[in-house]
Amino acid sequence: MASEAQAQADIKDFPSIFSLKGKVAVITGGSRGLGLHAASGLLQAGCSKVFITSRKAKACEEACAALNALPNRQPGAQAISVPADSSKVSEIERLVKEVEKHTDHVDILFANAGATWGASFDTHPPDAFSKVMDLNVKSVFYCIQKFAPLLERRASLEDPSRVVVTGSVAGINIGSLGANATYAYSASKAAVLHLTRNLAVELGPRHILCNGLAPGFFPTKMAAGLMELSGGTKSLAEATPNQRLGLPEDVAGTVVYLCSRASGHVNGDTIVLDGGSSLGRVKL
Ligand SMILES: NC(=O)c1ccc[n+]([C@@H]2O[C@H](COP(=O)([O-])OP(=O)(O)OC[C@H]3O[C@@H](n4cnc5c(N)ncnc54)[C@H](OP(=O)(O)O)[C@@H]3O)[C@@H](O)[C@H]2O)c1
Repeated sequence: MASEAQAQADIKDFPSIFSLKGKVAVITGGSRGLGLHAASGLLQAGCSKVFITSRKAKACEEACAALNALPNRQPGAQAISVPADSSKVSEIERLVKEVEKHTDHVDILFANAGATWGASFDTHPPDAFSKVMDLNVKSVFYCIQKFAPLLERRASLEDPSRVVVTGSVAGINIGSLGANATYAYSASKAAVLHLTRNLAVELGPRHILCNGLAPGFFPTKMAAGLMELSGGTKSLAEATPNQRLGLPEDVAGTVVYLCSRASGHVNGDTIVLDGGSSLGRVKL
């Protein structure tokens, strides 16, 4: 008979705890930046299908070609381009229909597409405010709502589906202020992280776990302008407690964790990916 210590040490099939073998994922804003980094991680962790969606068809196709050239995918695994403007509910509904042409279920939804706007307090424009809130909050909700039937199809107590939402440290702390203030963006990211907590409680019993990411600065197309205005990559890295900016593998590894068996009891949480920046700036 196994001793109590043996029973406690015996974790079933630990080597596969981060494996996503055979899982089907959808990534909004998957054509570049954080979404593309995550797509690479999901495919290399074993996903069989990763749907890449963003507005521009050519960008989605180029991302899929790069992903489909990764040497260590599972045999037959593929990235599939499904362009759509996820700021519009009608487009999200069309996206679901396109995805359904290739699969009868989805295991992972990475709701990551986002937009920002920089303008001073006195000039912050109402149209931009609405555009940012629509894409960063409303479209995330409707994306999760419209994909829920596919997410539920194979989800179980033992193997729940996953939703990961990209927030930002700007939704936890104060975002950019002054001439290039990001009021709508910061508010949208706080909102979407709180939305994620609400959905975690609503959808947990339906075997869909929902968690948020709160990245600090990662050098992507969206962040490049603000990073330059905030002192440039070198000085931002030096002002970060771990002395660097975010890397592709930081996003890939965290998203894989949040979609794997290893995080099966994590629901409604936010993982801050900022090297400790939000805890306080290192003095230069
Ligand atoms: N980089 C950072 O430092 C940082 C920090 C915190 C949070 N974030 C968040 O991370 C997420 C990804 O940003 P990123 O930094 O990776 O920026 P990025 O490289 O500019 O990528 C943005 C992605 O979103 C897509 N997109 C934009 N509008 C869309 C729409 N209406 N419908 C569908 N797709 C759309 C873009 O493709 P198309 O142009 O083809 O649509 C692109 O694939 C965003 O939510 C952002 O707020 C980034």
